[in-house]
Amino acid sequence: MSEGPTPNETSSETAALPRRPYSLTFMPQEVTIEVDPADLPFGDHGLPGSILDIAMGHDIDLEHACGGVAACSTCHILVRGGSDSCPEANELEEDMLDQAPGLELCSRLACQTVPDGNNSVVVEIPDWNRNFAREAPHS
Ligand code: FES
Repeated sequence: MSEGPTPNETSSETAALPRRPYSLTFMPQEVTIEVDPADLPFGDHGLPGSILDIAMGHDIDLEHACGGVAACSTCHILVRGGSDSCPEANELEEDMLDQAPGLELCSRLACQTVPDGNNSVVVEIPDWNRNFAREAPHS
């Protein structure tokens, strides 16, 4: 018997926000943000509390051509630590990731990944993404 979609099955639904503070580190910038759930969301980039939302809220360049609705793969990141606190990608995210260059097992879309706060998280922004964001800044 189906119990209906889970909160992360479509990009238009909202993933659960973390219930406790956690550290989110962006590499190679080596910028660590202490994420307080009370501060989320920072804006309207991707799912509320997503890694993209947090990056944009802290002036960290991270390309996001579709605005954060899982309709491109430009916000591709590599979760290097704390992946167990990032809910699994849904089918839509996986389909978009298939189009991302440099795909790895730890690849995620920053706009769809909302850490649950159970662990510190370390993400790497791929070179090509940083270069693109620098050349084509978003407002
Ligand atoms: S910004 Fe387009 S998929 Fe994340």
